Amino acid sequence: MNKIFNHSCENMREIPDKSVSLMVTSPPYNIDIHYGHKWEKGKQIESKGVKYADNFEEDEYRNMLAKVIGETKRVLKDDGQIWFNIKNRYNKGIIIPPFWILDFFQDMFLKNIVIWNFDWGGSTNKRFCSRYEYVFFFTKHRDNYTFNLDDVKIPALNYRPDRYKSQMKNPTDVWRISMVSGNSPERTEHPAQYPEELIERIIKVGTNPGDLVLDPFMGSGTTAVVAKKLGRQYVGYELEQEYIKIAEKRLTDDEPKIF
Ligand SMILES: C[S@@+](CC[C@H](N)C(=O)[O-])C[C@H]1O[C@@H](n2cnc3c(N)ncnc32)[C@H](O)[C@@H]1O
Repeated sequence: MNKIFNHSCENMREIPDKSVSLMVTSPPYNIDIHYGHKWEKGKQIESKGVKYADNFEEDEYRNMLAKVIGETKRVLKDDGQIWFNIKNRYNKGIIIPPFWILDFFQDMFLKNIVIWNFDWGGSTNKRFCSRYEYVFFFTKHRDNYTFNLDDVKIPALNYRPDRYKSQMKNPTDVWRISMVSGNSPERTEHPAQYPEELIERIIKVGTNPGDLVLDPFMGSGTTAVVAKKLGRQYVGYELEQEYIKIAEKRLTDDEPKIF
């Protein structure tokens, strides 16, 4: 398919039923991120007009996600899977964990709650700084789904040839992967870009070449870029045309940045 559509993913009319092998996404978090504006030292230095407002009423926000997840289930193959990246929110002095999303996946099978751990972010002085986000992994069928573990194994630090057959091991459910830094070759103007390395592991383990990968909230196109590099097809949605342009530029860029 290899297309990013410029309308809301609440309706994925272009995608046939049961055609997608894997959905991976980071939805808007409803934390008032100013999408589309450029910031420097806390000041808005450029605005590209009205952008997606990341500040829904909570009910409205959850209803939107429920619709998108409903549509995803329609387009997902019977052996398909969903990887859903979301983080705790911090509001009025307390943490609100995102476990309410589990209500939307009651007819699927929760296989992992991956902790994506990284090095930097906001600093705090009356609680520990937060340095992780979740990636929830659900399958449509309990047992029948793709899991190419050998393709994502990592070297074991405590390898002992007398005890283990191979130095390569299961990467576990805690993944230490850097956020996209300001000076990374991957960096775009999108304020909430996730790293290619995170998506690479997910697409490699959960799909085979030629499979269709969906990202309903495509942003700067990271999912599409990685799918393309790995010989998978992609499809997705993005409300902001500016971000689709960024994604298209990344997709036509011939120079491999990371792998
Ligand atoms: C967290 S960002 C995704 C970033 C992406 N993972 C990347 O690496 O660039 C969420 C994106 O969803 C878009 N968005 C918000 N609501 C949407 C909707 N209903 N349909 C499609 N896109 C939407 C926003 O404009 C934003 O770019």
